[in-house]
Amino acid sequence: MDGTPGNTQAIPVGPSGPPTESMNDTRTPTMPTDTRQANLESILRLAPVVPVVVIHDLAHAVPLARALVAGGTPAIEVTLRTPVALDAIRAIATEVEGARVGAGTVLSPRDLDDAERAGARFAVSPGATPDLLDAADDSAVPLLPGAATASEVMLLLEHGYTYQKCFPAEAIGGVALLRSWAGPLPAARFCPTGGITPENARDYLALSNVVCVGGSWLAPNAVVEAGEWHAVEKLARAAAIFRRIG
Ligand code: 3PG
Repeated sequence: MDGTPGNTQAIPVGPSGPPTESMNDTRTPTMPTDTRQANLESILRLAPVVPVVVIHDLAHAVPLARALVAGGTPAIEVTLRTPVALDAIRAIATEVEGARVGAGTVLSPRDLDDAERAGARFAVSPGATPDLLDAADDSAVPLLPGAATASEVMLLLEHGYTYQKCFPAEAIGGVALLRSWAGPLPAARFCPTGGITPENARDYLALSNVVCVGGSWLAPNAVVEAGEWHAVEKLARAAAIFRRIG
């Protein structure tokens, strides 16, 4: 599943239903699903916005994260889209007090393992695959998997995922979609990401099933390249005071 609308085939539900911990042959879960979900919730509730950052220069990692923490957005998603991403996670995890650094764009068990070894406290995926969900069952790092349809939300709930990334939020229906899901899918809580802006973030955060939003606007590439850390802190400060009700 790549997070694209309409793709509901990635998590197979055969005659015996989706895999559960008890069906997972010989492996022992690292920790109970409920514990991972509680850990994830505590991270997602640190601030109403999770900054999504793409780090090209390792030297930017620590000052960028310090600015985001200083601005009040300490849960930081570093996307695994650049060669330095894992080193950036490692640097932030070890050097930035107060940060909860996570890995974004986690697409495979290998990505999840790499993220855990680098010190990530959470992992984010644009979708979910059976292999990734299996790996997450054995990882101490809580996964925020992506869903784009009601069927994907339901399948992830069956796997114990109360917290899901709604992706790509604006492209698949945005606030109206999430409001529509609240009735029939009351157990799910979302972090919408993809197309969220300072202008529309409040509308998402006013929904009862939205726990936080994710967005890249707090760390614009040009601002990061210029090392304008005060500008990043200011953007974070403005985002950190958004009200949420979910
Ligand atoms: C991403 O994966 O890049 C995130 O969804 C961020 O999306 P955005 O740039 O629209 O905030």
